Amino acid sequence: MPKAEEQWNNLTLLRGELLDWYDAHRRVLPWREAPSPYRTWVSEIMLQQTRVTAVLPYYERFMAELPDVRALAEVPEERLLKLWEGLGYYSRARNLQRAARRVVEEYGGELPRTVAALKKLPGIGDYTACAIASIDFGAPEPAVDGNLLRVAARAALCAEDVSDASVKKHFRARLAEAIDRERPGAWNQAMMDLGATVCLANSAPLCGSCPVRAFCAAYRAGMAERLPVRAAKRPRRAEERTVFLLVRDGRLAVRRRPDTGLLAKLTEFPNVGGNLDEAGASVALARWGLTARSLVPCGTAKHVFTHIEWQMKGYTAEVSGDAPGFRWVDAAEFGTLAIPGAFRAYLACAKQLLNII
Ligand code: ADE
Repeated sequence: MPKAEEQWNNLTLLRGELLDWYDAHRRVLPWREAPSPYRTWVSEIMLQQTRVTAVLPYYERFMAELPDVRALAEVPEERLLKLWEGLGYYSRARNLQRAARRVVEEYGGELPRTVAALKKLPGIGDYTACAIASIDFGAPEPAVDGNLLRVAARAALCAEDVSDASVKKHFRARLAEAIDRERPGAWNQAMMDLGATVCLANSAPLCGSCPVRAFCAAYRAGMAERLPVRAAKRPRRAEERTVFLLVRDGRLAVRRRPDTGLLAKLTEFPNVGGNLDEAGASVALARWGLTARSLVPCGTAKHVFTHIEWQMKGYTAEVSGDAPGFRWVDAAEFGTLAIPGAFRAYLACAKQLLNII
């Protein structure tokens, strides 16, 4: 057998040790303890861009309030976004609800069982469909995420660029051969756990405690730190913004973002492009139709999105007048809003202005 083929075989050979290790050392996680398609689905969506430790408190709160598909389908959007506040990528929450409504209407409240049907639901891509189908319905489908790609690239000593779609497709086919057909859900989660706790990214694999290093070609070659290979990402675009915390008669200004694009439809503090000085800031207020009685800087902040970085400068102001699209909220109303994490640095200031302790 050519060397490269032999190395891909490692992925199949490591299966027994991997599952033994998982049975002995798997992470105890709430969605694993009382599994159901709904619980797996919600957990996988939350985990898409967020670490397990950050997800845990959100998951418990979400499940306590929305224990099934119907509850999710029916919850008011504002409340749903509040439950999601801080997790970011809010379109995940909106898609979750759109999908829940479809599951109620088209499938009587039970998630469909096949990868193809799952993928037709909003927000469910290949990875999530395969995770649900394997964990809850026993389908032998690898849930190919960064963890699985990394473990596979190392086990097979494969130096192809895993961010390339055709390479990923090849990895997927190899992982589909290697998955345990009796316990596909356990196999996927074992690979995830291995990737998250041992076969770590960023050149820091803990090969000394790896249960499957005997089957790892990269370990044998002393190359684990160098894999996987990924094409360099495009640098993030920096965008300067000026954020306003505006008070009128004890109420704070918020507004809804546009229906599409970054942070679509979410509630935000009014803001404009550029890092304005005080003169520029009062001009921006005047353009909205507001007159500032006072204008006080309230600090700079940075927020990193996937492709953009906001570099923000804040002002608080007592104003008169009104601006199109602004909503003036009191402390109680403010407490029900889900303000995106990008504005986190200004929340304390907003609360102070509303006398919220
Ligand atoms: N990351 C994504 N899905 C996961 C799961 N089911 N278990 C652990 N980590 C995960």
